[in-house]
Amino acid sequence: MRVKVNNLTFAYTQKLVLHNVSFSLKSGDFLTVHGKNGTGKTTLIKCFLKLLEVENDMIYLDDVDINKIRRFRNIGYVPQKNEFNYEFPITVSEILSCAYIKKRDSFYTQVINSMDINSIYNENINNLSGGQIQRVFITRALLNKPKLLILDEPTVGVDNENVKALHDILARLKEESITIILVSHDMDFCSDITDYYLVLNELGEYVFKKAGEENVSC
Ligand SMILES: Nc1ncnc2c1ncn2[C@@H]1O[C@H](COP(=O)(O)OP(=O)(O)OP(=O)(O)O)[C@@H](O)[C@H]1O
Ligand SMILES: [Mg+2]
Repeated sequence: MRVKVNNLTFAYTQKLVLHNVSFSLKSGDFLTVHGKNGTGKTTLIKCFLKLLEVENDMIYLDDVDINKIRRFRNIGYVPQKNEFNYEFPITVSEILSCAYIKKRDSFYTQVINSMDINSIYNENINNLSGGQIQRVFITRALLNKPKLLILDEPTVGVDNENVKALHDILARLKEESITIILVSHDMDFCSDITDYYLVLNELGEYVFKKAGEENVSC
């Protein structure tokens, strides 16, 4: 999916968080978003997902203004951990059925198998480890057949082995021309498959750079 951000500006009542942010991505591009706590990374993502209201002419997906998109298709979202109530009594299978209801079709089975979900399929979410929960949310996102996949700090609380597994999944999805936006504090995670960096700071300023260019701090 092509992404165009055009002078995106967002403020919560008094507080300006994003100021005139502009960048473009082609299908299959991998964007890593960095920035200290509170610099607006999750806010940016919520603007993309229409969880926050943005003005017209600020965000285009495949050349369509997001304010003109009624129903979001082909966008997968893996939320930041604190965005989900893990005490909620819901099983893995129920979480996945929110994204895809045809449980017997081959696409569903293939995604479940490739993400190694079978052994935890009937577990309650609050019995799972951090790495397993992340895998469930990534699976849910993949069931949306995403052309754009957005992940907000997916490695927090996840062990090295699962971080590596997640890296390999993202590398595979990039090869399938899925556009990926990854928010991460870890400068090394996915640095080998990152095409662009977006770095935000607490003044609402940003730097957008191609990977390999010097100095990605803001
Ligand atoms: N609903 C809200 N109402 C008012 N202010 C908010 C709201 N959500 C976030 N903020 C403020 O907006 C700023 C950016 O928050 P945001 O969550 O986007 O930062 P972040 O870069 O994702 O931080 P973190 O690394 O901690 O996840 C912060 O100062 C935060 O306090
Ligand atoms: Mg955040």
